Amino acid sequence: MSNLETSRGNWGSKFGFIIAAAGSAIGLGNIWRFPYVAGENGGAAFVLIYIIFVVLIGLPVMIAELAIGRNTEKNPVGAFKKLFPQSLWKAIGGLGVITGIGILSFYAVIAGYTVGYFIKIILGDFSAVESAAQSGQIFAAFTANPYISIGLLLVFIILTVLVVMGGVSAGIERWSKILMPLLFLLLIILAIYSITLEGASKGLSFYLKPDLSKITLTTFARALGQALFSLSLGMGTMITYGSYISKRDNLVTSAAYVCFFDTLIAILAGLVIFPALFAMGMDPAGGPGLVFVVLPSIFAKMPGGMIFGAGIFLLLAVAALTSTISLLEVPVAYFVDEHGWSRKKAVVSMGAITFIIGIPSALALGANHFFSTFIKENFGFLDFMNALFGNYSLSIGAFFIAIFAGYKWGVNAISREIQEQGSVFYFRPIWAFLIRFICPIAIFVILAYIAWTGNYF
Ligand code: TRP
Repeated sequence: MSNLETSRGNWGSKFGFIIAAAGSAIGLGNIWRFPYVAGENGGAAFVLIYIIFVVLIGLPVMIAELAIGRNTEKNPVGAFKKLFPQSLWKAIGGLGVITGIGILSFYAVIAGYTVGYFIKIILGDFSAVESAAQSGQIFAAFTANPYISIGLLLVFIILTVLVVMGGVSAGIERWSKILMPLLFLLLIILAIYSITLEGASKGLSFYLKPDLSKITLTTFARALGQALFSLSLGMGTMITYGSYISKRDNLVTSAAYVCFFDTLIAILAGLVIFPALFAMGMDPAGGPGLVFVVLPSIFAKMPGGMIFGAGIFLLLAVAALTSTISLLEVPVAYFVDEHGWSRKKAVVSMGAITFIIGIPSALALGANHFFSTFIKENFGFLDFMNALFGNYSLSIGAFFIAIFAGYKWGVNAISREIQEQGSVFYFRPIWAFLIRFICPIAIFVILAYIAWTGNYF
């Protein structure tokens, strides 16, 4: 029984929750990050492992996070504290709060670029593009300008702050309902166009025909990080979002829907990028600039491409916004619940801190030499933050959440939460096996391998 239903707010309906959680999951992770990480890690072989990880690790961890959140009705720190007050488990929640700020700091940079690209397309900056090389030069010149990069970062942080200030269900649900399906539709059209380009078949086989000899443990590590990142797992986003779900809803089917749609959009994004990329003779390992180079080169050729392109980048910005609000919501809920801050104070101060931490990332794609080559050539501060928070911190978080759900709070407690108000947990034995054995062991082996080889980046 929760009296919090009134004070804390609830999703309007089951559909409302799924669309909001899908809004968190679907974002730049699917359309910007997935294609370039797949491109750098052998294409189809990576995609295969990615899908396996979504099912065997992503889905069970999402169910665990949602159950913890709905049971405690708290932010990640408060949730662990409520279940085991005297224990150290709240540190995992604390890691999640920090990770939320860390991810948001670079994510908002890329999100700002999507806004910038929307404006550039409208201004006609791509109408004379004839080759991918030209498109690449435009991207390089764009990101080399520190004022534009920092300005767009600030714009995106302010947008996020304004939505989060409005509270959860009111702010989020309204945005996602119409725009996500529209994004899906535009991607389908674009994928069909891309597949029919001359020379596209090489891209299709790179993307869909796995070359198993390309699989290494590094491929597993990147696929794990990408799966957690894309599903918004490992830092308590889904604990926080789960805290707003009604007891009537079935957590397992909700989680399955979110995983399914998130993966569908990622796969679709690859079907847009890789056929076109190979048709234009580009290198699939092009790094974080990949979609910003490939998409405008497609639009330049396509009839009506510029209108289409403006639509895609606008929807991409919206998809990014429904993700950035979920990232900011975690630290905000923490300071509101645990420290009694007003929502406004929490949102504004977290927004300001994230902006400052984001500045080096905004300078990392060419604007500043030091930050652009922070780790090595072509691996700057943004890539560093992306690996640190977007791969390792999430993997560590997911590991401990699996241990917590499987052993500490336990399978019975989670099942009881799932079976509230009559939902039946059909997959309980499979879920229990995955969360107790497969998730922790797989994640541990991957992290140990990375630590052992020092192959962090
Ligand atoms: N999943 C989002 C995307 O794919 C990004 C995101 C939102 C996220 N919240 C998160 C990633 C929490 C990790 C953890 O774009």
